[in-house]
Amino acid sequence: MTQSALQFVTPLTFQTLSGHPVHTELLTPEAEYAMGHIALARWAEILLIAPATANVLAKLSHGLADDLLSTLYLAVDCPVYVAPAMNQAMWHKPITQQNLQQLLQQGVKLIAPESGEQACGDVGIGRMAEPASICARVMQVAATQVLHGKKVLITAGPTREPLDPVRYISNRSSGKMGYALASSALAAGAEVTLVSGPVSLMAPRGVKAVYVETAAQMSAAVMAEVPHCDIFIGAAAVADYTPEISQPAKIKKQAEQTTLNLLKTQDILATVANLSNAPFSVGFAAETDHLEQNALDKLHRKQLDMVAANWVGREQGGFESDQNALTVFWNTGQQTFALMDKTILATQLIHLIATRFNEKHYAKNTA
Ligand code: C5P
Repeated sequence: MTQSALQFVTPLTFQTLSGHPVHTELLTPEAEYAMGHIALARWAEILLIAPATANVLAKLSHGLADDLLSTLYLAVDCPVYVAPAMNQAMWHKPITQQNLQQLLQQGVKLIAPESGEQACGDVGIGRMAEPASICARVMQVAATQVLHGKKVLITAGPTREPLDPVRYISNRSSGKMGYALASSALAAGAEVTLVSGPVSLMAPRGVKAVYVETAAQMSAAVMAEVPHCDIFIGAAAVADYTPEISQPAKIKKQAEQTTLNLLKTQDILATVANLSNAPFSVGFAAETDHLEQNALDKLHRKQLDMVAANWVGREQGGFESDQNALTVFWNTGQQTFALMDKTILATQLIHLIATRFNEKHYAKNTA
């Protein structure tokens, strides 16, 4: 509540009706102790300002941050909705409309005021939208939470298999796809754990990240987390072979020719998908040839629910690129996603996974 709002209604009224604490102050020690303004901004999934006065619109559009509400607006990275309420003349004033346009251009969403008789006796546009229609708009956003309450475990990036203390075998995986999936699953309302090999990316805020280096470490981390998860997505490029011996000291350059003995690593994805209480399991197939055939083979051999196949070693898309194209296969169908940004692709893929996951659960529960 802003200082102006406090002159109309007491915080106690809102606290009693909502059953939640009411925040009013920006920088008092008590307020910061209870839940500081930055913690409050991080906690929010949606910021709804209702009623939004002409003064609030003006402050937000100019980046002022002199109270809790305007500071929160600057600090959040969630969707922001404004439901303006003001006298009709103030609504029509060009500067108010200009401020509003500026906010809309920056991504703020408008819940438009309605026309009718106003508190001051004027008739015209400026009455705040009905609370029920404001709630309906906000609930539409909640409908994008297709994985609300679900636990999703994702592997990402390459693994490094040490030859000696300074050398390792690895691959070109950047981790971008796995990290984008973690971000999209989080946005879809899931609780996300990301088991990541060495990459130069920051884990999305809100994701539980477990950092590993070798395939064996990735396997151990996944097995520790998997009993708690509903969906497992294996986006990591796990090494298929690891040196039989990792030398304790740096290998010296002597012989003209040398041989490395490699041992097969455990297939994490296949192990997870074959557990007796396996989560919904999604694999990736990065192929340089026979994409469909190899992907379908993986789907059946590893007993996966879905496999997302993409070409690698070509000009566009694949390992190090920001873009990717995928064809996703499951037992009864397939869907192709054209070349697009990995972040957009991840959101579409998460929605497809959620649909298939729900269908499988519906089928299981109604069988
Ligand atoms: O059989 P292939 O390695 O091509 O399969 C790729 C898929 O299997 C990916 O989803 C990858 O994360 C997973 N995988 C795994 N553990 C391995 C090898 C691959 O989880 N040791």
